[in-house]
Amino acid sequence: MRRRIVAFLMGAGLVLIYMSFSPAQSSAEDIVFEHPAIPAQDGGDGDDINVTGDNSYCLLCHSRENFVLELEGGGQLDLHVSPDALANSVHYELGCVDCHGEDAFPHVGEPPTDARLYSIATTTICTTCHEEQGESLVDGVHARGLANGNLRAAVCTDCHGAHDVQEIEDEPQLAAQVCGTCHTTVFAEYEQSVHGQALLVNNDTNAPTCIDCHGVHGINTPTTAQARNRSPELCAKCHADEDLMEEYGITTNVFNSYLSDFHGTTVAMFEQADSNVATNKAVCYDCHGVHNITPADDSKSQVAKENLLTTCQQCHPNATTDFPDAWVGHFEPTAEDNPLIFGVNWFYRLLIPTVLGGFAVLVASDIFSKGRRARSGQSHAHTDEGGDNGDE
Ligand code: HEC
Ligand code: HEC
Ligand code: HEC
Ligand code: HEC
Ligand code: HEC
Ligand code: HEC
Ligand code: HEC
Ligand code: HEC
Ligand code: HEC
Repeated sequence: MRRRIVAFLMGAGLVLIYMSFSPAQSSAEDIVFEHPAIPAQDGGDGDDINVTGDNSYCLLCHSRENFVLELEGGGQLDLHVSPDALANSVHYELGCVDCHGEDAFPHVGEPPTDARLYSIATTTICTTCHEEQGESLVDGVHARGLANGNLRAAVCTDCHGAHDVQEIEDEPQLAAQVCGTCHTTVFAEYEQSVHGQALLVNNDTNAPTCIDCHGVHGINTPTTAQARNRSPELCAKCHADEDLMEEYGITTNVFNSYLSDFHGTTVAMFEQADSNVATNKAVCYDCHGVHNITPADDSKSQVAKENLLTTCQQCHPNATTDFPDAWVGHFEPTAEDNPLIFGVNWFYRLLIPTVLGGFAVLVASDIFSKGRRARSGQSHAHTDEGGDNGDE
């Protein structure tokens, strides 16, 4: 694959060199910098230039500080490229021409007129080699945003850089920072949440970062009916994992108890029935929030005692102060928290074995006594079977 690209680039490069050095010696006067003495300008035919050999030809001009292009659409494009940044990047083996083609000066094509449009157009540089990421990006929210004219939606270089692309190591903190550069409001909430504090302050990588919940390149719209109905599974990925949650003393019963309550049962059924209609029942984030989740006993939490009624009232507008008490939460009721429910549960726990057990005893003794009567009526003589019988 890469060899094909290089071959293509070499072919294209030869054409470019021909075009740039033969007929139209285009306008070096337009340029805002003082032109260096390079063979192309001195000799004229350009035969002795080694554009591809290393980066030194390109860097003749592009390593200069304060080398900028005044853009037609306003603003500037910084034409300075740091050789060190490239050398320290994951692409240290690539030359300028591997990405830009053998575009000797004067460059073919019109110079960029707008910095953002230029960044968007150059995405194709990255996708020539990274097809897979390019394809999944096309299915995501950012590419769709771009297609609909939202030029602020993310492209490769917004998240990775261009000349200083770094190797991907498992750095969930960095991922959050990257998303946060544009999603500042969400980031500000997340940073204060139980998950954000764990990750960004305690460096606890068990806590979810943006991409754990949203994915990376092929991010789906998170507000669709399907995403809403499936959202409990998102939380369950960690909150149903007993080994993980044990470390924090957080009960994993939250998921099972949710599924067995009236909200969860219907959400689960809903998803099966028609995943394209959003459930109106509560999902985890209706009660806990999404990016602003805090521990249940934190006064900022939507499920803290003092805020709980307001949380329920989103959907149960007529609920009054004692309403939340009707819901036992995620826990098995205890004698202290829910004496009544606790009592009722125990009542049944005792009653059912007692009633059924008593019934079983009655039936058993009835069969037994019938059998005994029958036997003792038949033969009084054969009493050697057992002492019990014999004793009577
Ligand atoms: C003689 C100086 C000079 C040399 C050598 C040079 N450039 Fe440029 N480059 C410029 C100038 C001036 C611009 C501003 C836009 C223009 O005039 O095309 C520019 C713009 C660019 C741009 C911005 C986009 C565009 O197409 O205008 C890229 C990318 C670029 N150069 C890459 C390279 C590469 C790769 C090489 C080596 C193969 C190279 N340059 C060699 C002077 C140079
Ligand atoms: C891994 C591919 C890659 C390599 C290698 C690379 N570039 Fe670039 N370059 C890009 C991309 C992508 C952009 C567009 C960045 C943007 O503005 O979003 C770019 C932009 C530029 C620009 C326009 C100014 C800017 O930074 O946006 C210049 C000039 C440039 N490159 C020169 C060079 C030179 C000189 C080298 C070699 C020292 C080089 N590039 C190596 C991918 C590369
Ligand atoms: C000429 C081919 C080529 C181009 C163009 C190119 N890359 Fe790469 N890229 C590579 C190679 C080769 C590697 C190192 C091998 C690997 O890990 O896949 C790499 C590695 C990476 C990595 C690290 C992957 C990891 O697993 O750690 C990222 C991220 C990346 N490139 C992003 C980009 C971006 C963004 C662009 C556009 C600015 C780009 N690449 C342009 C060939 C290319
Ligand atoms: C919205 C930000 C964002 C955009 C846009 C983006 N990436 Fe990434 N990319 C990331 C993050 C974050 C990771 C690290 C994922 C992880 O840690 O698992 C990553 C990982 C990668 C990797 C490593 C292999 C992999 O898939 O995990 C490559 C290669 C890569 N990106 C290339 C690209 C290319 C090429 C583009 C443009 C077509 C692009 N990325 C667009 C954020 C982005
Ligand atoms: C360069 C800025 C930028 C970066 C970086 C960025 N985004 Fe976005 N994101 C946007 C814009 C703009 C939109 C709105 C697109 C549209 O018009 O639909 C968007 C949309 C989204 C949406 C959909 C929002 C909705 O209401 O449907 C999600 C989810 C999202 N981004 C997550 C992420 C994640 C996760 C990351 C990091 C891996 C990230 N973004 C990085 C700019 C960015
Ligand atoms: C624990 C999972 C989780 C984490 C972590 C998470 N999100 Fe979200 N995000 C969601 C869910 C679920 C929704 C949909 C909420 C809704 O429908 O109201 C959402 C919605 C969004 C939206 C669109 C709606 C809005 O509020 O603007 C954006 C943008 C977004 N998230 C970006 C991010 C970014 C950036 C980060 C990291 C700083 C992040 N998310 C971390 C689960 C998460
Ligand atoms: C990638 C794993 C992961 C995902 C996904 C995740 N969490 Fe968490 N969550 C954690 C960890 C780890 C903690 C403990 C952090 C700490 O206490 O330092 C936590 C803590 C919490 C707490 C605080 C518990 C307490 O009272 O101390 C709540 C509430 C919570 N998460 C709800 C959710 C909800 C709702 C979702 C889905 C929208 C979700 N979490 C998704 C890992 C995750
Ligand atoms: C996102 C909306 C939403 C939120 C938030 C919500 N509920 Fe519900 N809840 C519903 C729906 C819808 C039903 C089903 C009503 C029906 O079928 O008649 C329901 C049913 C119930 C029922 C069964 C009895 C009844 O009234 O039908 C109880 C009890 C209940 N919820 C308690 C709570 C409590 C306590 C809270 C706050 C901790 C809460 N709910 C938050 C939507 C919600
Ligand atoms: C109807 C509102 C509601 C829904 C829906 C809900 N929760 Fe809760 N959650 C609460 C309340 C209230 C508390 C605090 C008291 C309690 O545990 O009952 C709590 C407590 C928690 C805790 C802290 C437990 C601990 O050990 O301290 C976690 C974690 C949690 N919920 C996760 C979830 C997850 C994951 C879901 C979805 C599967 C979910 N919650 C759905 C209201 C809700």
